[in-house]
Amino acid sequence: MRDLKHYLSIIALIALVTVLAYLGMVNARLLPVQASAQSLDIDWLFNLQYKLIAFFFALIVVPIGYSFVVFRRKAGDESDAEHSEGNTPLEIAWTVVPLIIVVWLGYIGADNLARINAADPNAVEIGVVGFQWKWRFDYPQGFSSDTLYLPANQQVLLRMTSPDVLHSFWVPEFRVKQDVVPGRETLYRITPILVGDYKVRCSELCGASHAYMESAVKVVSRAEYEAWVAEQTAKAQAEAAAAAANPDPGRGQKLYESLGCKACHSVDGSAGIGPTWKALYGSQVPLADGTTVSADDAYLKASILQPGAQTVAGYTAGAMPASFGNLSDGQLADLIEFMKTLK
Ligand code: CUA
Repeated sequence: MRDLKHYLSIIALIALVTVLAYLGMVNARLLPVQASAQSLDIDWLFNLQYKLIAFFFALIVVPIGYSFVVFRRKAGDESDAEHSEGNTPLEIAWTVVPLIIVVWLGYIGADNLARINAADPNAVEIGVVGFQWKWRFDYPQGFSSDTLYLPANQQVLLRMTSPDVLHSFWVPEFRVKQDVVPGRETLYRITPILVGDYKVRCSELCGASHAYMESAVKVVSRAEYEAWVAEQTAKAQAEAAAAAANPDPGRGQKLYESLGCKACHSVDGSAGIGPTWKALYGSQVPLADGTTVSADDAYLKASILQPGAQTVAGYTAGAMPASFGNLSDGQLADLIEFMKTLK
């Protein structure tokens, strides 16, 4: 009868501590706002974790605390505790119950992942290049942006590459995080659901300025997104036409920095992932196949648009991302004009 009273007290305390620990975690607001459809599924899992964590915390801490207080050794009591050895039903229970819980967690985790990765064939595709230490967003309409504009309530598929080292694309409000890997394209699917301003951070240590590798992310309405794309497309076309007619080394230098050419090609002759641009224009370039080519406008353009076609001797084929293939004639002309100044 006295044992039953202890058991009932412990069960009641476990229930109480579970509820308090759960409410404490929920009210601590550990997660930022839910800005993507995927965040709802992910947060459902988080919420389940909070409940399990609260319960197991109580299950361990309550019996320990209860024993400290209620079964405290009385002064002068020198006797030993009761000796017990083995308890097969208990051992079976504490093996089988956790096994069932872990298999169940594995199942709901896989189910959740499948829902998060569900592909919409009408997803808007945007190219992402992460390089030391910036992000660049290439839109299929043929322009690039420093800010990632996304339409709300529409799945977006980001095709991500890196010309240099590992980076990681992370918008905490979207929850999903994905590595950006040199020499490989990784995919990132997200359906933004909340209009607002966010930030993409790099969450993979990638060198000296890793901590500053962040860009603005703007989720806007469908209409606003389409207006922005139309405006950027018109601007890019006007700039391309003007540049093609009148190439400018100053604009070329800005592109060299903003597009990420800088990450791999030096302008002072020092070695990089790609050949230096110093004294490149007009020089004779030895190729990996043993032939030599003259670095004229046609060769330089072709090397930017199809980087794998002619590999320079001593460099890795395919190291340069294919995403530069969408540069306009004007941008190419500006870049080549800039190369001409690097004597
Ligand atoms: Cu890129 Cu850290």
